[in-house]
Amino acid sequence: MARTLTPETVAIVKATGPALQQHGLAITTRMYERLFIYEEVRELFDMAAQASGEQPRRLAAAILGYAQNIDKLQNLTPAIERMVARHVETGVKAAHYPYVAEALLPAIRDVLGEDVATDAVLDAWGQAYWFLADMLIAAEAARYAELVDA
Ligand code: HEM
Repeated sequence: MARTLTPETVAIVKATGPALQQHGLAITTRMYERLFIYEEVRELFDMAAQASGEQPRRLAAAILGYAQNIDKLQNLTPAIERMVARHVETGVKAAHYPYVAEALLPAIRDVLGEDVATDAVLDAWGQAYWFLADMLIAAEAARYAELVDA
């Protein structure tokens, strides 16, 4: 079933967006510490880095930057197309998305603390993450299917 964003989720994500942006580097760093515990995920990035070096950092930056456009999703279309293309090149699959969710959300709490990153905030960010992830997963599945048919 397609996920939806409630007005409450949009409001919380927008309200916390600036704090996440301000601490973006710390959150990104913490997220990768958590994410690269999983060898099968780290391998995707090791292989990708040989081709493009700095790009892994864009993943978290994109998720955080998404907050700014969560009420203007049409602005995200070109960015989403680039992400889909890169994910398909590097072999990202639907099964990888929970790893990023489970690294990003605790990283937000680690850095901002539980007074700012309350349960309600993390819940809203979880909803927002999966809303974006669902769009990416659907577009990537369609692209993989085209590649098989080609
Ligand atoms: C909502 C979730 C995600 C967002 C917003 C996102 C965003 C991005 C962005 C912006 C890029 C750079 C695209 C470019 O070249 O311009 C990227 C690349 C990449 N992403 Fe994602 N991503 C997400 C989920 C994932 C997941 C689940 C994985 C796998 C664990 C993953 C692995 C990668 C890899 C391997 C690259 C290529 C890095 C490189 O070129 O060195 N991403 N992603």
